[in-house]
Amino acid sequence: MNLDGKTILVVGGATGIGQATALLCAQRGADVIVADFNEAEGQASAGKANGTFVSVDVTDEASVKAMAARIASSHGKLDALVQTAGILKGAYVSLEDFELATLRQVMDVNTIGSFLCAKYTAPLLKKGQMPAIILLSSPAAYGVSSSYAYAMSKGGVSALGTTMAGKLAPEGIRVNVLFPGGINTVMKRSVIEEDALRKGEDPQAAVEAAQSRGLGEPSGVAKVLAFLVSDEADYVRGSVHTR
Ligand code: NAI
Repeated sequence: MNLDGKTILVVGGATGIGQATALLCAQRGADVIVADFNEAEGQASAGKANGTFVSVDVTDEASVKAMAARIASSHGKLDALVQTAGILKGAYVSLEDFELATLRQVMDVNTIGSFLCAKYTAPLLKKGQMPAIILLSSPAAYGVSSSYAYAMSKGGVSALGTTMAGKLAPEGIRVNVLFPGGINTVMKRSVIEEDALRKGEDPQAAVEAAQSRGLGEPSGVAKVLAFLVSDEADYVRGSVHTR
């Protein structure tokens, strides 16, 4: 599909699914903005996409506001926001031992971060062509999770996305929530390694076993995201699941 003329913001585009999406959207003709708090890898990712890097911490309202202001002056509009910034903390910690600070940290990045990114880019999206917001949830949202905090945060992302889908439709902004399956990224591999260590198993062997059972690649999810930001996805509504 063709993304010529589209300005696409990939938040969390330094690594993993976001990075693969930034590169693919650029290959399809989009002008890509990579935003992340990982400046070294964010710059590298933006460079490969021949795009722009903006430093942002999605948990910090002033930082997200500054990101939107910078895009307003450099690009003037956005055609899509793909919000992939996320963290997974507290895997395999019991309910009794779960620290409130961990819960707040994960909610801050995954849920509040998604809200802030949507809130401050909405005025730019209203100036775009067939604009779209795509948020990254997870099957964790309906109970398939190693972490209480991650599950709660992704439930919040899903609720935010479906609520925005209804409320922003009259303004011409299409909102989808994407549910990737297990994808071979640093985030996923560290959870697999942690689980193996907990069970006294070899972490490397556990990652290899998960890969051979069919852990997906970020490039596969990127193909779905590149489609969702394209005009061809005009008739796609609500939640979309990948392997
Ligand atoms: P990743 O760790 O490679 O990417 C996450 C990105 O978010 C990184 O570039 C990181 O620097 C950035 N980030 C984290 N905190 C930030 C903050 N406060 N401000 C700005 N940027 C921040 O992980 P992955 O796997 O590519 O995850 C992307 C999204 O997909 C996440 O929302 C994750 O929850 C979701 N997901 C991942 C799955 C998987 O199996 N890998 C499955 C389902 C959902």
